[in-house]
Amino acid sequence: MIPVILSGGSGSRLWPLSRKQYPKQFLALTGEKTLFQQTLQRLDFEGMQPAVLVANQDHRFIVQEQLDAIGLEAQSMLLEPFGRNTAPAVAMAAMQLLAEGRDELMLVLPADHVMSDQRAFQQALALATLAAEKGELVLFGVPAERPETGYGYIRSQADSALPDGISRVERFVEKPDEETARQYVASGDYFWNSGMFLFRASRFLDELKHHEVDIYDTCLLALERSQRDGNVVTIDANTFACCPDNSIDYAVMEKTARACVVPLTAGWNDVGSWSSIWEVHDKDADGNVTKGDVVVQDSHNCLVHGNGKLVSVIGLDDVVVVETKDAMMIAHKDRVQDVKKLVNKLDAEG
Ligand code: GDD
Ligand code: MG
Repeated sequence: MIPVILSGGSGSRLWPLSRKQYPKQFLALTGEKTLFQQTLQRLDFEGMQPAVLVANQDHRFIVQEQLDAIGLEAQSMLLEPFGRNTAPAVAMAAMQLLAEGRDELMLVLPADHVMSDQRAFQQALALATLAAEKGELVLFGVPAERPETGYGYIRSQADSALPDGISRVERFVEKPDEETARQYVASGDYFWNSGMFLFRASRFLDELKHHEVDIYDTCLLALERSQRDGNVVTIDANTFACCPDNSIDYAVMEKTARACVVPLTAGWNDVGSWSSIWEVHDKDADGNVTKGDVVVQDSHNCLVHGNGKLVSVIGLDDVVVVETKDAMMIAHKDRVQDVKKLVNKLDAEG
């Protein structure tokens, strides 16, 4: 099994700590190691080969530095000139493996998630392997608990053709609106898509070719025209510029008839926003999470993150405060999804 690590995202919802030049996957947000390093270390078990990394070319040296720091080497590193979302990133990794004559199972993993139960993760993988070897596209489903609108939702049904414990995807809906997400959660029938996938490289490409031939053709050409330097492949920018921007979820997972789901109860969290950072940390007696030089008084369930200055908070509940050298953000914990909108506005204003 070959892990393919996607680390080209910009993590804008964790602004002002996460920046385009240094996004969240390369930050130590939940422990001593960065999310990217934790993702790689989670794969240190028998049967797992060195990873294929797909990253932005601006992050080449950050990636290398973080690999060196944990003493690991990548199988290969595909560098994108800009992001075109996850469908092209996964496609080029699959095409690269086929070009090397290695049509093996690829485990696609986001570089920015946490998982607290390693044993459960490995058990889910073992089960998923049985289906992926039969040509299935396996998704890992986390029982949906809240109406998060940033996730894919999966409803599945039993299928006797699949191994026990695995069910057929009956419906996959990427990022539904809030009302729809609420109905899904209330029904109790839905999983969240964890964003991890397992399939054989050629099987994924068959599906992509069938559903999104433009992405398939452009990626094949962009990879063919790329620059190679040892195990580092720099994707051709002129060709890749013509590639449609789409995620694997919309491009393939919503459309394919060959997807199945393996339940994942491994303490998964996608650390997608400041509220999930608050969730995964140990809290003090008042439910506060603090980092840096911080004083909190008569406040509850807050996240206060200082990065140089002394930060003090008095009499506030459910508030996120993040201080950095050049920016300060204060938000209600229920509104942290809107940080992305704020960042887009700042970008637009230049
Ligand atoms: N190489 C590369 N290039 N990686 C990318 C790109 C790209 O253009 N865009 C995103 N990524 C990486 C991100 O760094 C992240 O590790 C992973 O791919 C997933 O991308 P996100 O942008 O974080 O996706 P999402 O969170 O909106 O949605 C996905 O994950 C959810 C769970 O966290 C979907 O798969 C949802 O269905 C899922 O529920
Ligand atoms: Mg994400």
